[in-house]
Amino acid sequence: MAVTVSLINMKGGVGKTTLATQLAHAADRRNLRTLAVDLDPQSNLSQAILSPEKYVKLLKDKKPTVSAVFENYLPPSDGSDSPKPFNIKDVIIKKAGYWSKTNLDLIPSRLELSHTLKNPTGKERRLAKALSKIQEQYDLILLDCAPTESILTEAAYHASRYALVPVKPEFMATIGLPLLARSINEFKYENTDHALDICGIVFNHSSSYSEGPEGKTSVKEVQKEAKKNEWHVYETHVRYSASYPKAAREGTPIGSTSYVRYEVTAEFSNFVEEFLDSVGLTKPKTP
Ligand SMILES: Nc1ncnc2c1ncn2[C@@H]1O[C@H](COP(=O)(O)OP(=O)(O)OP(=O)(O)O)[C@@H](O)[C@H]1O
Ligand SMILES: [Mg+2]
Repeated sequence: MAVTVSLINMKGGVGKTTLATQLAHAADRRNLRTLAVDLDPQSNLSQAILSPEKYVKLLKDKKPTVSAVFENYLPPSDGSDSPKPFNIKDVIIKKAGYWSKTNLDLIPSRLELSHTLKNPTGKERRLAKALSKIQEQYDLILLDCAPTESILTEAAYHASRYALVPVKPEFMATIGLPLLARSINEFKYENTDHALDICGIVFNHSSSYSEGPEGKTSVKEVQKEAKKNEWHVYETHVRYSASYPKAAREGTPIGSTSYVRYEVTAEFSNFVEEFLDSVGLTKPKTP
């Protein structure tokens, strides 16, 4: 049975998509059967995993996306003019990872997902239901969420065992955290049969200034907030490196990105080990 983890923070630009992409590649490289799900109409995860060029082709070919999960039908494609009944298998892009033996699959997104936001009634459990049918085919399912709270966040909660919270250490980084705590607690209160926990907070330095004095103060404030709520904080910080945006452009794992520094790869690897440990995936299978 797969463990499902949502990357969530109501604050934008903290590295949810970057970490979802790189964790997906890293889990794949460790022979974990991995599914990445793009739950953001911006579709950055889809582009980063497939590469922007392949993503454009997917749109041109009218391939079904995560929207079909919420709308419950597959849109008409070339050669057929009427919508077909929904089947989760039809929205999965198989073997979307980077290395030759990849077991990384992807459910991509597209801008039309915003239609679900406009007509959300009764759709919040459809993702969980769809994923439950394929849980046994994966070890890890990663959901990349948009920064705003919506039906898609609720859908992610219903589908997830854990929430992974990237935080960018900067002025006022703590502000979103009580909001997130309240959102998760409200969900737990209304869904007592569903276990949802924060597996940890990871500091991601998505800009270089966050490693300066202001960043250090912010780290302390976030740690204090985490302690109060009994949230785990990962020891390894993901440092600032221009290789992360480059990896998204190149569609590569961080370690295969051109001119990446060894320290950046090694440090990300440390974070991966900590993360897998925190969600109970400590013993990766050997090839
Ligand atoms: N550790 C890092 N070092 C350098 N740049 C980074 C790092 N992490 C993220 N970035 C860059 O910061 C920007 C925001 O990151 P990302 O898109 O992953 O954040 P997000 O939380 O998913 O944003 P959104 O809320 O809009 O979905 C991107 O341009 C990304 O390439
Ligand atoms: Mg994002």
